[in-house]
Amino acid sequence: MINQCLCCVAGSDSEPEAAASRSRRNPSRSSRGNRKRGVEYPWEMYTLKELLQATNNFNDSNKLGEGGFGTVYWGRTSKGVEIAVKRLKAMTAKAEMEFAIEVEILGRVRHRNLLSLRGFYAGGDERLIVYDYMPNHSLLTHLHPHRGTPASQQHPPLDWPRRLSIALGAAQGLAYLHHEASPHIIHRDIKASNVLLDADLVPKVADFGFAKLIPEGVSHLTTRVKGTLGYLAPEYAMWGKVSESCDVYSFGVLLLELVSARRPLEKLPGGVKREIVQWAAPLVERRKWERLADPRLAGRFDAAQLRAVVETAMLCSQSNGESRPTMAEVVDMLRFAGSGGGERRNKEIVPVQDAACSEDITMTTDHDDVTGSTEPLDRGSWKLTTLR
Ligand SMILES: Nc1ncnc2c1ncn2[C@@H]1O[C@H](COP(=O)(O)OP(=O)(O)OP(=O)(O)O)[C@@H](O)[C@H]1O
Ligand SMILES: [Mg+2]
Repeated sequence: MINQCLCCVAGSDSEPEAAASRSRRNPSRSSRGNRKRGVEYPWEMYTLKELLQATNNFNDSNKLGEGGFGTVYWGRTSKGVEIAVKRLKAMTAKAEMEFAIEVEILGRVRHRNLLSLRGFYAGGDERLIVYDYMPNHSLLTHLHPHRGTPASQQHPPLDWPRRLSIALGAAQGLAYLHHEASPHIIHRDIKASNVLLDADLVPKVADFGFAKLIPEGVSHLTTRVKGTLGYLAPEYAMWGKVSESCDVYSFGVLLLELVSARRPLEKLPGGVKREIVQWAAPLVERRKWERLADPRLAGRFDAAQLRAVVETAMLCSQSNGESRPTMAEVVDMLRFAGSGGGERRNKEIVPVQDAACSEDITMTTDHDDVTGSTEPLDRGSWKLTTLR
């Protein structure tokens, strides 16, 4: 199935293995991309042998991590290039069709803050996606070091300027998907493990497995709920209504996580779950900015910048999707934050009463693909006002 899909989206009438071996015989294919019928394809078609060799037969010691869709392995190609190979779990025919179309379109997406596809292999039961290897792993490993990892092997805490530049870079990647990619792309799974860091700690938004391509003129789509609890916008969790503002909500949660290094969903004594937004809201109302900062920062942050980032996060994670800023606006807000609050210095956010935020929210949609469990939520609404 996937072979047919890829042939149809790539405009090829040949079988992919044959195409791959033709591509393999062309030593300059990586610099030129795959060229078929005059069309440039920026990704490569790998052979299974090539990827088995690169990953030492998907050796356990090469494992980088495991997600909902498969396992990721580190590898090195015969040319010495480090790669990350995601080995997908079994797929249905429909999922394969979607995967093929997404691989084709997402393979063309290029931005400094997006982890683009490097290539793939599809044959028999194997579905392998190849990315550039990110030596600094995901933001998750920096914010929440694994309990069992000895201190000597943990990443040192990210300093404040670095957190700010990661926030801005990730926002720019997402803004590109929302506003510049054609068709526009909604990521649908923005979270710390999907923000990878390169050798210079430049953030790359990764994992377009969940991405939804939005045709021109369509404001939202209704879909099966996928994603990770703690990051899900309420209208998406309840009704499967997906639009760019769902990503904005998740990004707001990610910003709070980046500032505080708290988990998006915390289990309180007694088993009650609390979302990071619920934890932050009372502190924001009481202007206890410093209590929102990661203790590992040990007070080394610019208070005005921190406040501006937290305020941006609260505006992003409002219950009402229409009140949230766009990602383009978020990029501007974070740029202002970086300049010490900038124009925003004379503004502050204040809570507003919002009917939506007092509703009990229960999931009613098909949410098999959601990671975690569900709880009624209570979120705030905010507006920016000018300081008197
Ligand atoms: N290109 C890469 N370079 C380095 N590490 C990577 C790369 N891609 C993924 N990883 C690592 O592999 C782990 C698993 O990634 P994967 O995308 O499969 O799952 P996830 O992001 O944890 O969850 P989900 O399936 O919900 O996206 C990530 O947390 C990350 O640390
Ligand atoms: Mg991922």
